Amino acid sequence: MYLVRARQLLTMPPSVPTDTPVPSDAEAIQDRDDQLVGLIEDGAIVIDETTETIQWVGPWNERPKKFRKDSLDLLETDVAMPGLIDCHTHAVFAGERSREFMLRNAGQSYVEILEAGGGILNSVDALRAASLQSLTATLIPRVLHSVRQGITTLEIKSGYGLTVDDELKSLRAIANAAPEVPCELVPCFLGAHAVPREHRDHRDRYIDLVCDQMIPAVADQQLAGYCDVFCDRGAFTADEARRILQTGKDHGLIPRIHADEIADIGAVQMACDIGAASADHLEHTGPEAIAAMADAGVVAVLMPAVNLFLGTTDHLAPARALLDAGCDVALATDFNPGSAMTQDLGAILMLAATLYKLTPAETLRAVTVAAARALRRDNIGSLQAGHRADIACFNAPHYRYLPYHFGQAHTDAVIYRGNLVYWTDSADVEID
Ligand code: NIG
Ligand code: FE
Repeated sequence: MYLVRARQLLTMPPSVPTDTPVPSDAEAIQDRDDQLVGLIEDGAIVIDETTETIQWVGPWNERPKKFRKDSLDLLETDVAMPGLIDCHTHAVFAGERSREFMLRNAGQSYVEILEAGGGILNSVDALRAASLQSLTATLIPRVLHSVRQGITTLEIKSGYGLTVDDELKSLRAIANAAPEVPCELVPCFLGAHAVPREHRDHRDRYIDLVCDQMIPAVADQQLAGYCDVFCDRGAFTADEARRILQTGKDHGLIPRIHADEIADIGAVQMACDIGAASADHLEHTGPEAIAAMADAGVVAVLMPAVNLFLGTTDHLAPARALLDAGCDVALATDFNPGSAMTQDLGAILMLAATLYKLTPAETLRAVTVAAARALRRDNIGSLQAGHRADIACFNAPHYRYLPYHFGQAHTDAVIYRGNLVYWTDSADVEID
């Protein structure tokens, strides 16, 4: 048993209303934000490392007697909050695509490059050529990079293999990396990321392969708990995505979807019909689809680094309209070599604040409690007794600082499953 004491403790209560208007004066915005993050000034968290759970959360002065002993270890920090969750990444990839980045900035669009057989398909060539061992070996340092930012749960999709063996290889790389890293890896099957070159002229055969072979193998071998589809112009149609997600669901995989990134082709409505956990991207999502998401409880996962990286800031996801409608809004990096070559979740907070006009608390909820909902997880994302003891501690004058000072991690310490797994020189740690 040990204690974390924080000048600002952000509990991220799941049930606070998030659809209230943002006031215009600073004090009122701050009050609303303090409610949204469940702020406790001078707060304490009691952690039981044997059960890996939080025992108690509340004001330091109100901690129960049994937690007042001087002999208890203590970690003191400025800002403590639930471990961050990056709920949408493509972190298993081989090679890199800086040549395309150059081409895009010289005028070619993402879809033109994809349709000419490049883009995702370039990463497919590289992944197919890579061994399981090398994929695992490149994934581990990427995960550790995330951990150093305070990330304790990292979703990772397959989708650069596009054969039965190469999709399974990608998911196995995640499974093999998992015991080596102090972070939960959440694998997601994305066999329908693109139609591979060998099936270009008979895409139905590829979809059959996804449904008849890949999904059953992934489910049987318990290599993923989720199934995703890139449902967009130039990728898979809504009908194709429905078939794939339904097949996944029949095999126990929770549906998620890449929707409305390039165009609205009906992906969101389909995702609502099928009961997807989340719809991700949403740059072209309109009012009807937003209302459908609110009704169906589909979480919006927004990834503004993509807009910055592809130069498409003229089409931003309707973050405020989603919040106003009562949707949960999560944020993620979308870390991938083609459309968002970054793992920097702190930069995502800044982009969401400046591009979507979210408040600091809205950005921080989006990478904790809302991100947990995008993964349908109820034991992470907020600080409550009984939750898994995943805690991110930051060295910062105020929690507002996290979206504000971007480009470097402010991490003081990271606790994963009750264990101190990372700390920096700024940390005031007295834990054995
Ligand atoms: O989420 N949009 C589809 N998939 C990825 C991009 C993958 C890639 O270009 O390699 C995304 O943006
Ligand atoms: Fe993605």
